[in-house]
Amino acid sequence: MRAAVVTRYGAPDVLTLREVARPTPGPRDLLIRIKAATVSSGDARVRARRVPEGMGLLVRLALGWSGPRQPILGTECAGVVEAVGAGVTRFRVGDAVVAFLGAAMGAHAGYVCVREDGAVAPKPEALSWDEASALLFGGTTALHYLRAARLKPGERVLVLGASGAVGVAAVQLARHDGAEVTAVCSAANASLVTELGAARVIDYHAEDFTRGDARWDVVMDCVGATDYARCRRVLAPGGRLLRVVCGLGGQLAAPWQGRLSGHRVIAGVAAERPEDVRRLVELARDGVYRAVIDASMPLSRIAEAHARVDSGHKRGSVVVTLEGDP
Ligand SMILES: NC(=O)c1ccc[n+]([C@@H]2O[C@H](COP(=O)([O-])OP(=O)(O)OC[C@H]3O[C@@H](n4cnc5c(N)ncnc54)[C@H](OP(=O)(O)O)[C@@H]3O)[C@@H](O)[C@H]2O)c1
Repeated sequence: MRAAVVTRYGAPDVLTLREVARPTPGPRDLLIRIKAATVSSGDARVRARRVPEGMGLLVRLALGWSGPRQPILGTECAGVVEAVGAGVTRFRVGDAVVAFLGAAMGAHAGYVCVREDGAVAPKPEALSWDEASALLFGGTTALHYLRAARLKPGERVLVLGASGAVGVAAVQLARHDGAEVTAVCSAANASLVTELGAARVIDYHAEDFTRGDARWDVVMDCVGATDYARCRRVLAPGGRLLRVVCGLGGQLAAPWQGRLSGHRVIAGVAAERPEDVRRLVELARDGVYRAVIDASMPLSRIAEAHARVDSGHKRGSVVVTLEGDP
């Protein structure tokens, strides 16, 4: 099968297209023929070994010293079940599915295997392959953090970086949970985030949300643009700061920060839960949650897709398609 392969960390030109062996499904596995996959900010971080402050050594030990041990990146995909292991009961050959591979990666290839009881669910019929492939990276992260915040209906939530893949999911899911959402993004993305459910938009080029009189119950920083010292004043009593992007020092300090002021700071890696994948698929089927596609291009242009993600300016997700790729 064809795959985009990374054998050493670096700029997008380290990506090469190669023929590699097709994986063989185990007894409880599905073999998925991939139609579309995203190039997520996680993929671009691994390729470039661009990690939050203080995490360099840990990440090299976890992922590989000079290049990733898993050379095929790609955290989420949509495709068709091509084959199933002998013990599979929940899916059949020909089923259209979405899958979240998370840290295991492997979606930038013709085929991937996932366990039938893993993070895989039927693809909502009304969605295109591109739309279906982009439901899970931002969605699972947003669900994880909003759950950790114990968000209650009527609470005021500020989403910083509301136009990225995590941000667009957070705006929609917080709104769906009954929160009143303020989105922080560029003026160019104001109409997008309003459509997704934001009641108020702050243009981060024109206004600093930490300076006004408004207060929020939850501040969710999806881009690593703030910290507790800067947000403390705008957190309401009982307020929570969700630091989706946070260096090692911030992660170690999080459990203690804010305690004296009655605040909580939450940081760390989002959990990968099969039930979150099923919930996101249900919400997408019900029309209350959707992916936003920044750009879609064939796998042969994967370096270009990574460069777009590296820009830090994508709106939602960048997709690579495998349909028709030789
Ligand atoms: N903790 C975890 O487990 C976890 C899981 C998943 C992802 N992440 C991390 O979450 C981050 C977000 O990923 P992503 O894919 O959603 O998006 P991303 O590519 O990091 O963000 C792109 C978007 O952020 C906006 N943006 C950039 N700087 C901003 C600022 N200062 N204020 C407001 N908006 C700003 C950009 O808009 P403009 O073009 O208008 O600037 C763009 O639309 C990544 O760093 C990723 O590694 C963490």
